[in-house]
Amino acid sequence: MISDPIKLAAAGLGRGFMLTLPSLLADPHVRLTACAAPRAASRQAFLDAFGGRAHESVEALAADPEVEAVYIATPHQMHREHAEILAAGGKHLLVDKPLAITMADASAIVDTVEAAGVQLVAGPSHSFDQPVVRARALIDERDLGRPAMLHAFNYTDFLYRPRRPEELSTEQGGGVVFSQAVHQIDMVRLLMGGEALSVYAATGAWDPARPTEGAYSAIVHFDGGRFATLVYSGYAHYDSDVLQGEIGELGAPKDMAKYGAARRALAAVASPEEEAALKSGRTFGAVDPAPKAPYPEHFGPVVVSCPRADLRLTPTGVEIWGDERREFVETPAAPSPRTEVLRGLYDAIRRGAPPPQTARWGRASLEICHAILDSARTGEPVPLKRQS
Ligand SMILES: NC(=O)c1ccc[n+]([C@@H]2O[C@H](COP(=O)([O-])OP(=O)(O)OC[C@H]3O[C@@H](n4cnc5c(N)ncnc54)[C@H](O)[C@@H]3O)[C@@H](O)[C@H]2O)c1
Repeated sequence: MISDPIKLAAAGLGRGFMLTLPSLLADPHVRLTACAAPRAASRQAFLDAFGGRAHESVEALAADPEVEAVYIATPHQMHREHAEILAAGGKHLLVDKPLAITMADASAIVDTVEAAGVQLVAGPSHSFDQPVVRARALIDERDLGRPAMLHAFNYTDFLYRPRRPEELSTEQGGGVVFSQAVHQIDMVRLLMGGEALSVYAATGAWDPARPTEGAYSAIVHFDGGRFATLVYSGYAHYDSDVLQGEIGELGAPKDMAKYGAARRALAAVASPEEEAALKSGRTFGAVDPAPKAPYPEHFGPVVVSCPRADLRLTPTGVEIWGDERREFVETPAAPSPRTEVLRGLYDAIRRGAPPPQTARWGRASLEICHAILDSARTGEPVPLKRQS
């Protein structure tokens, strides 16, 4: 029982907010008290559903005394400005991934929160998934040795979900590297521990109608000769959830009979404006939030190789392939699929004990996103400088 949940507001009531909402409503670590949203219809829908206060601007939200922390779920390019306004109002921050688009903006956010003395948790990201957190703990508890190799891959329909125009332009933070690689990078960094040193990568942009990266393959080298491979395709063909018990990314059973639905829905769209409107039609107030998912979230198959065991993460737990026997460790029941990130925010604010995913962490993960793009462009490995 938690007697003092964080009084949390949301800036932006779009898709990101919708995906976190079932957890915000079910989780005891937070209480949703306010929002900032530019559209009057979204504000009214918020008031109808939750009461509290609905502000027209982030500035007004920053001045709301009933708000302790704000979940920034506005488009990537706004994260810096919104973080600066809210930190100046003394609000703690939960900033959805990626922390920013440019390294300069990420550094400005780091400087802002450190100067203001507010907590920033970089998330939600799949590094907070319960099987990831459990695997990390098992590596230490079972003394399996430092992870030496990690393999993570994910095949989704990401590129064919309805998008705003900037989400299809790499320069403006679009494509799978900024929005999806960052999940894998966060997971990989958490599981591997230690410091990433360099990145060697290739990217694919195979659909001229959606001219941004839809796929990548990257090798991240860590200290001590350790390494991880990250593979992703958002081209809506193969679906790696078939290897995950047909449980989708958000922890709900997936209807595999709906194969091809994302491309079919887009085929009916005639212009970028229509596509953006289709995306808006999936935001808060336009559709009901999904029910709370029965399983933890996941981001595709992951295998971590330690000196004394391989660990395979599944949507419901962790398989340990030890020297002489195999074991399955189930993840314990949780109040919500995104409980670990909300607990992280709670611990940061109430106990001064933030999770590893701070503003500096978010900047380090963003550096790896840029390194993937740079390495793909130059064909050379890219050394990392902002990891510690
Ligand atoms: N962690 C996840 O699972 C996940 C999933 C989807 C999106 N996201 C992240 O959420 C962020 C938003 O992406 P999205 O897909 O939800 O986009 P979106 O377009 O669906 O939503 C953005 C929302 O921000 C609002 N907004 C715009 N300007 C604003 C302002 N000045 N003040 C307040 N609100 C404003 C818009 O009205 C819209 O409702 C991105 O950083 C994205 O990476 C995270």
